[in-house]
Amino acid sequence: MLDYSASAQSMRSSEIRRLMKLAADPSVISFSGGMPGTALLPVKIVDELFGALTSREREAALQYGPTSGYPPLIESLSAYLTSRGISLSGQELIITSGGQQAINLVSKVLIDPGDLVVTENPSFIGALAAFMSFQAHLVGVPLDEEGISIPGLQKVFDERLAQIKMLYLNPVFQNPSGVTYSEARKKALLEKLGGRAFCTIEDDPYSELYFDDRDKPLVTPLKAMASPELPICYIGSFAKIFGPGFRLGWLLGPQELVDKCELAKQSMDACSSTLSQVLAHAYLSKGKLPGFLASVRPVYGRKAGIMLKSLADSMPEGVTWTQPRGGFYIWVTLPESMDATRVFNEAIKKQAAFVIGNAFDPYGVKNNCFRLSFAHTPEEKIEQGVKIIAEAIRNTPNR
Ligand SMILES: Cc1ncc(COP(=O)(O)O)c(C=O)c1O
Repeated sequence: MLDYSASAQSMRSSEIRRLMKLAADPSVISFSGGMPGTALLPVKIVDELFGALTSREREAALQYGPTSGYPPLIESLSAYLTSRGISLSGQELIITSGGQQAINLVSKVLIDPGDLVVTENPSFIGALAAFMSFQAHLVGVPLDEEGISIPGLQKVFDERLAQIKMLYLNPVFQNPSGVTYSEARKKALLEKLGGRAFCTIEDDPYSELYFDDRDKPLVTPLKAMASPELPICYIGSFAKIFGPGFRLGWLLGPQELVDKCELAKQSMDACSSTLSQVLAHAYLSKGKLPGFLASVRPVYGRKAGIMLKSLADSMPEGVTWTQPRGGFYIWVTLPESMDATRVFNEAIKKQAAFVIGNAFDPYGVKNNCFRLSFAHTPEEKIEQGVKIIAEAIRNTPNR
């Protein structure tokens, strides 16, 4: 047997991968994948944008580019971020290969083995995996329907403030819970963070996907509300507002930290796909984003509505779930005595699937809960899939 690195050994869970493989069978009604509906991908827009590229842009698209990103895209993305209320003054913006790479880069430049990373509980599986690969020690703070628990955070500050390297948050339409921080919670959080020296990652890939235009004020980034001195790394992604296949994201944060991330990126992939960046620039600069968002928001809203109604119609007593106002996810909580892996094993027999809760627990334990994604599943299959899962819950004995 090869002598694997401590980093490789810290990678978790063949069990979750096994379940995900079962969910990938095309005959399964899967609520597992956190990806856009395939029919919603902007195929026509991309075709148009590519057709309209000049020959210089086409050459640039096939060439290496600067590690920090294709300069015209940095410019158009800066304009977009400014329009979201974020000030770029004193900040550095780089393009990354997905939001996932941005999380990895910040982790790489900040985390030494044993350092403390504080996350919401539950939290995004990809971020937890990144932190663990750098051998961070994870501490989860409970999340309620208004956001991360402030007393929970205070407790960690009281007990272990000196060891905290990073706080990781996904405040809008959170993955996996669908929870969005209330304005009051954001303010209380920023007050708690005032003067703290550790880095806060604000991961924000879903905030453009609100179902109702009246909810727009809900999605204001912390980065837009915080004092410029607070070290917040604002991470975004083109995955949900353009297409995951472009593998593009961004990192905006304090200059020195982002410069270090750029150095780290240089040895990883030299630059993100220039072809993707040229297209993303055309997409933003030609004003295609607002129309695209206006076309997908009602579809996701409708899918979420169907799923919520199906849950209300079919779930047994004692089961609760969140009420997302945007994004891709609903979080279901079973009675304490139940185990989501057992429910999964029942549901998959009848060809429905979800992601079990312990995948999102920073401690990898809590499993009386699971994540449903409504984004990718065809509308007409949602009710049937939820019914199968409700039936599976009824047929699953307690632990
Ligand atoms: C909360 C969160 N952050 C980051 C990512 C990664 O995004 P990307 O596809 O841009 O790497 C995802 C993807 O699902 C996500 O849900």
